[in-house]
Amino acid sequence: MTWFVVAKHEEVYEELEKHALTLKSKVRWLKSKEDLADNIEKGLVFLTVSNDDIIEDLYEELIAFSGSNQGIPILIDIEDQVDIRKAIRAGAFDVLPFPVPPETIRETVKEAEKILLQVKVESEKAPVKKDSPEKDAKIITVCSTKGGVGKTTFTVNLAAAFAKQFKKVAVVDLDLQFGDVSMFFDCKPNKTIYEWVKEEYYGQPEKLSGYMYAVNEYIDIMAAPIRPEFSEVILEEHIQKLTDYLRPDYDVVLIDTAPYVEGNILTALEKSDDIFLVTFLDLPTLKNCKIFIDTLHSLGLVKKTKIVLNRDSKKRGLNKENAEEVLGMKIHTRIPDVEKVVVTSVNEGNPYVYSYPRAKISKVMYSLAQDFFGNPVKKQKRSLFAKKVVNEGRLV
Ligand SMILES: Nc1ncnc2c1ncn2[C@@H]1O[C@H](COP(=O)(O)OP(=O)(O)OP(=O)(O)O)[C@@H](O)[C@H]1O
Ligand SMILES: [Mg+2]
Repeated sequence: MTWFVVAKHEEVYEELEKHALTLKSKVRWLKSKEDLADNIEKGLVFLTVSNDDIIEDLYEELIAFSGSNQGIPILIDIEDQVDIRKAIRAGAFDVLPFPVPPETIRETVKEAEKILLQVKVESEKAPVKKDSPEKDAKIITVCSTKGGVGKTTFTVNLAAAFAKQFKKVAVVDLDLQFGDVSMFFDCKPNKTIYEWVKEEYYGQPEKLSGYMYAVNEYIDIMAAPIRPEFSEVILEEHIQKLTDYLRPDYDVVLIDTAPYVEGNILTALEKSDDIFLVTFLDLPTLKNCKIFIDTLHSLGLVKKTKIVLNRDSKKRGLNKENAEEVLGMKIHTRIPDVEKVVVTSVNEGNPYVYSYPRAKISKVMYSLAQDFFGNPVKKQKRSLFAKKVVNEGRLV
């Protein structure tokens, strides 16, 4: 892997060179962004940001840069003046302080290389993919029988983690009365599942796309109705069709649900390839969850069910083993309880996977998303740049 370091000052270059050597990467020093166009091979691009830079211009430049296929941009924020969220929205892969702690740079580079590699593996699998051929989405439903356990938070962040791996994701809000998926993405779709059912359900499948709201290049959502009473027009046959129609256009269809089980949700569960049952370390929630597991057993759905223990913390008086004992099932994924990160991201309407890309909780989501499509080959060769890496991967 080659690192292109765009830095005016030698000491910045030298510091990054030191890290690159430790990580067995090649480095090239470019004195200005303009030099990138001529010199870029394939790899990571470290852009240093200093007080001389006009910061608002930087975000604009990043967007342009992201569209130019010139590498994965990582910002080195010399004077702590970059707004991380804005930078990531504009296309930066990450924003690192200077001097960069070795651990931080190692992790960032590892993540970036993983993504480059994954894209390479996939582009080799399907070399000529011009007019996006039909996909065959995995359908994943996220459910619980108790409210507030973190289903929506989990769903939107899993969607973002898939998106970071260049997967096209449809998020369907099947919490038909009080769904808040759009709020979690800070958007207000004009059309919802209600309008689709009323206006176009009997039309062509292609019409469905007009009812999907694009959050970014990779994530579309089918929002819940604006008013709770509208939910009544949505029936099981609609959910059947909806999933059938979405399958060929997406890599993943993620369905968020209400905290109870009714016909539409059962249909989604039956249609799903995987079910995530979200639970929490508190006895009533676990007991409730156990009853639901029994129901899934009797419906023959338990085989595709994975238990997610959300807000896992040592402070709850119960642990993973206790939970497994109550549930009679293994916990598949543990998500840490990190109120600050989660609440801030919910309030900002931006999944933490985007706004806190290096947080432990985000890494849990990346690896979960990666499990679905297989990890790329462990060892990698050099210069693995694949087309459209930058602009496709980092949009928020
Ligand atoms: N891992 C976590 N750590 C800390 N707080 C969390 C975590 N996951 C979720 N929360 C918090 O829990 C609250 C409920 O989350 P969320 O809305 O995702 O639950 P839900 O199961 O979708 O609820 P409902 O059943 O009402 O739809 C949110 O305020 C969120 O900030
Ligand atoms: Mg919810």
